[in-house]
Amino acid sequence: KHMKPSLEQIIAEHAHREGPLLPILHDVQASFGHVSDDAIRSIAHALNLSRAEVHGVVSFYHDFIQTPDPRPSLKLCRAEACQARGVEALAATITVPDGVRIETVYCLGLCSVGPNAMAHGKLHARLDAAKLAALMEMLA
Ligand code: FES
Repeated sequence: KHMKPSLEQIIAEHAHREGPLLPILHDVQASFGHVSDDAIRSIAHALNLSRAEVHGVVSFYHDFIQTPDPRPSLKLCRAEACQARGVEALAATITVPDGVRIETVYCLGLCSVGPNAMAHGKLHARLDAAKLAALMEMLA
């Protein structure tokens, strides 16, 4: 139920608004973790802008990265139900090893057994400090 939208869907969703470029770039970054050259080309084409213009905006804002981060990541859910189950206090206990990164995601669809996280495509539920530390070690 949490399917990632395709680039075409993201563009279609915003193309009709005023100032569509930033919302499109934000959604692309959120869905794909970066804004690729291919995405820049498609977005420029769809919005009738030059690639240089779109590229300029992408490089101007630190929110956007152009090449994916190769480090393995723990996708930690920080949506409402996991918040209510103490994910922030838990997050504060994490020591992130070199070569691992933490990504924030919003709802992994298993709210009743949170706090939850994904690592290597696998869901880890009912996290506590020990489980989280073990996950960090596993990813490192
Ligand atoms: Fe975390 Fe739904 S809020 S899984």
